[in-house]
Amino acid sequence: MNKIRAAITGVGGYVPDYILTNNELEKMVETNDEWITSRTGIKERRILKGDNLGVSVMGIAAVNDMLAKTKIDPKEIDAIIFATVTPDMTFPATANIVASAVGATNAFSFDMGAACSGFVYALATGASYIQSGMYKKVVVIGGDKMSAIVDYTDRTTCIIFGDGAGCVLLEPTTEDVGVMDWELRSDGSGEQFLHMKAGGSRNPASTETIAKREHYVYQAGSAVFKFAVTNMADISAQVAERNNLNADNITWLAPHQANKRIIDATAHRVGISDEKVMMNIERYGNTTAGTIPLLLWDYEKQLKKGDNILMAAFGGGFTWGAVYVKWAYNGQ
Ligand code: UT7
Repeated sequence: MNKIRAAITGVGGYVPDYILTNNELEKMVETNDEWITSRTGIKERRILKGDNLGVSVMGIAAVNDMLAKTKIDPKEIDAIIFATVTPDMTFPATANIVASAVGATNAFSFDMGAACSGFVYALATGASYIQSGMYKKVVVIGGDKMSAIVDYTDRTTCIIFGDGAGCVLLEPTTEDVGVMDWELRSDGSGEQFLHMKAGGSRNPASTETIAKREHYVYQAGSAVFKFAVTNMADISAQVAERNNLNADNITWLAPHQANKRIIDATAHRVGISDEKVMMNIERYGNTTAGTIPLLLWDYEKQLKKGDNILMAAFGGGFTWGAVYVKWAYNGQ
């Protein structure tokens, strides 16, 4: 019998309506459109405005979009994994909230925190559930409401991040398509370069942590940049080489959208030309766990059965990973 693989059989996405442009940021911090564009490739990002709206709002919208397209019955969903570092609350899991809202009443659901690598981690986890033969429909969501943890007085971080969420549906197949291979890594010594200082169990919220602005993303940008360039390129090359993927047979590179310069370095390392690189960083910025599913959402119509897609991510932790997916259906 052929090996069971997890095929991506549907994609959904959601970005909020509000567009935060570089010009608007110029009025908030000491920066300019030219610097942001040349250093990051970002022109605008989406922001979820409104009281009491958490990342679940975007996750629910993304899953509903996928359900409308695939027409599957949400009651058939076995599991929902939500990769995010900006859950609605520390607990319960945002995935539980999403499952209930979309009518996935027979699913188990949980969150996964691997920062910008969250989606590739969750995709590998979901694919393993399918490959085991135990589950038939697993939804993997990646999304973040970064505006909830970004300090809009810090020009080194507020220009980068945005809000958004995307998801995929995984189903078993015995055809030669689906999630083919992956490599995931982490290095906890990277904590010092990218973290949120307070609000966790080590340093719970207090008037002091608020006064010291410790509930925001802290990033040592240029240090993270160096690790990201090397590790995202290396792990992409590793997965490509062991699957005999090269410039000729890779159809798409789907890289985490952190910085156009990191994306370009990764593409260069695996020898891929620009037109094969999925990119929407100019419109959405860095949506953390949302970037890769939002790429699939944006490019879905162009994808064809059998396309070789190499996904790659790097983020807080440090965490990084690459996933090789052979696309399972023709985009309409
Ligand atoms: O997604 C998870 C992982 N995260 C990443 O992969 C992000 C990795 N890092 C980066 O993308 C880049 O490091 C940044 C975009 C964050 C920063 O770009 P950079 O080229 O590394 O700049 P830098 O931090 O080395 O700063 C260069 C200069 C500094 O001024 P001085 O010290 O040379 O006078 C900064 O103060 O640019 C200054 N600067 C800015 N200037 C205008 C920093 N932010 C800004 C800004 N506007 N927004």
